[in-house]
Amino acid sequence: MTVIAVLNEKGGVGKTTIATNLTRGFQLAGEAVILIDSDPQGSARDWYAAAGEDNALPPVVGMDRPPLFKNLKSVTQGFAWAIIDGSPGIEELAVAALKVADRVLIPVQPSPYDIWAAESLVELVKARQEVTDGKLKAAFLVSRQIVGTKLAGEIRAALEGYGLPIFKAFTSQRVVYANSAAQGSTVLDAEPQGAAAEEIRTLVEEIRAWR
Ligand SMILES: Nc1ncnc2c1ncn2[C@@H]1O[C@H](COP(=O)(O)OP(=O)(O)OP(=O)(O)O)[C@@H](O)[C@H]1O
Ligand SMILES: [Mg+2]
Repeated sequence: MTVIAVLNEKGGVGKTTIATNLTRGFQLAGEAVILIDSDPQGSARDWYAAAGEDNALPPVVGMDRPPLFKNLKSVTQGFAWAIIDGSPGIEELAVAALKVADRVLIPVQPSPYDIWAAESLVELVKARQEVTDGKLKAAFLVSRQIVGTKLAGEIRAALEGYGLPIFKAFTSQRVVYANSAAQGSTVLDAEPQGAAAEEIRTLVEEIRAWR
């Protein structure tokens, strides 16, 4: 089983949007996947509830109380992938998630404020990578890129300065991400042929190829 944590202590960067779409993307790719909501706000659980009772979504389980992720092994039994939706502003959570994660995705909006704000998480990730002898892999994922713009050179350079890889896949700022979430749905269901769905499928493939 591979545990992917979507983490960033900054709020509103797109963690839940990425985690929910990614979960559905893995399911549609034929993978057994479960979503773990570690945010006391319960956004991923709200999303699941908005989908109604007879939905076809993968299970969503809340784990936002200490000791964090204590039951992760038993809850995720039988699944090939577990995706953790991180919570903003709680460092203990990030520390606990890093202990159970195999892969960490750090969504960052292409703005200097987001890049500066990632510093403390990058330090935690690197400390954990040292302890685990590099077994933990982490990468940035550009989130909410404005359509029609490229990732500006200075922003890319600033991210590269952290010494973590940057995913080729990214998400753009598109209304379908917000609109589909409100229905307990995903961009893959709302507009399967759309550009956002293609972004998520590209992300799923890049994660599957991540070694
Ligand atoms: N690619 C996108 N395009 C358009 N809207 C987006 C996109 N990604 C996220 N949003 C919207 O931005 C808001 C914040 O996104 P989201 O809740 O996914 O961030 P978060 O990092 O999980 O926030 P929090 O830190 O509060 O948990 C939501 O209203 C969401 O619908
Ligand atoms: Mg969230």
